[in-house]
Amino acid sequence: MERLKVGIIGCGMIFDLNILGYLDNDDVEIICLCDRRQRRIKEKITKFNINPDIKIYKDYKDMLDSENIDILEILLPHNLHCDVTLYAAKRKIKGISVQKPMATTISECDKMIKSCKDNNVKLKIFENFTFYPPILRAKQLLKEGIIGELNSFHIKTIEASSGGWNIPKSTLNWRLAPDSCGGGLECGSPFIFDDGYHKFWLALHLIDEKIEKVFAWVDRYNNLDIPAYMMWKYRSPKGSNLNMPHYGTLEFNFSPEMLLPSPYYACDEFISIIGSKGIMWINQATSGGNIMSKSEVFPAIVIFRDGKIETISDMERDWKYGFINSTKHFIEVIKNDGIPLLTGEEGKYCTQFALAALKSSMAGKEICPDEITE
Ligand SMILES: NC(=O)c1ccc[n+]([C@@H]2O[C@H](COP(=O)([O-])OP(=O)(O)OC[C@H]3O[C@@H](n4cnc5c(N)ncnc54)[C@H](O)[C@@H]3O)[C@@H](O)[C@H]2O)c1
Repeated sequence: MERLKVGIIGCGMIFDLNILGYLDNDDVEIICLCDRRQRRIKEKITKFNINPDIKIYKDYKDMLDSENIDILEILLPHNLHCDVTLYAAKRKIKGISVQKPMATTISECDKMIKSCKDNNVKLKIFENFTFYPPILRAKQLLKEGIIGELNSFHIKTIEASSGGWNIPKSTLNWRLAPDSCGGGLECGSPFIFDDGYHKFWLALHLIDEKIEKVFAWVDRYNNLDIPAYMMWKYRSPKGSNLNMPHYGTLEFNFSPEMLLPSPYYACDEFISIIGSKGIMWINQATSGGNIMSKSEVFPAIVIFRDGKIETISDMERDWKYGFINSTKHFIEVIKNDGIPLLTGEEGKYCTQFALAALKSSMAGKEICPDEITE
């Protein structure tokens, strides 16, 4: 079978992880790269030993008009996701993978979903935590009922000040601008609308229920949207024998004096899920594989049930595997006419959840994600 032709728009920070699933992969061939900063493209070609003869472009329209691409990766600031997807969808591309959050408004999400449907393009919202090995294992165990019916979800995010990647100013600046980041706050939203998307998604994905209402406090520290505390009630559980109401909470904390050694961002996540028969803890994601993962104190997964404790760590813990697995999954979807994870509809609902939380923090009242339609 002919190799699938891949084009990538945006050669910034996250390129370094999104590229990994395409390297040394016989199913695909990277044929073109685009970034308005040409220097960045050249740096990536050298860094990842990409064929130096591939086509490079400054303008994404030129690239999409000239190349026959099967899979397009969009790794751009949030406000560009919709326009680029709409332009690409009309150009006979088989699959478009757009980094999270899929767009800054719900009307943009709707346009992207419709245009991809009308043009028979598979739209994937790239969310890598779903494919991170400890999360894959946890999801499977929860589905098998290891802790019974799930009734409470908690995720704690800790942002430290040092120990991870050096982030260029240009990568941070567009996140601090309300128009390019989205989310509706006057300070942009590098934490809640951007990074928070993963956490909102895990709350949906691991519990597998939609949200009735959310309430949030999003504070400011040095003009950043942190610390933030949120809580929500899930809709009445489907097929429940216990009829117990289900709740979730999310914390974003910032430790401006903490060193958090990480191969990527100096940030990490800790999840706990309570079920009718037990408790599951998932230790770490973004900084997985670091010194904490090597200690006995932080097994990847801990389960308490029937009065006993079980720990599970026999899996890859480096966060990059979430990216690699996600890309490989999409390649299979394109080869075998499968269903992307996340679909456009899932990506849209997660955006509604995130925007509802942000709106709640501004309005000081509970909001139902279904109310967010613009
Ligand atoms: N999944 C994750 O964990 C994760 C982590 C970081 C970023 N992201 C997402 O990835 C996307 C990109 O983030 P990033 O951190 O790589 O940002 P970045 O600023 O480092 O990279 C964006 C790149 O796009 C280029 N660019 C901007 N406008 C352009 C245009 N009109 N045409 C061509 N190129 C243009 C910039 O020059 C830059 O190189 C965002 O959606 C972000 O939310 C996801």
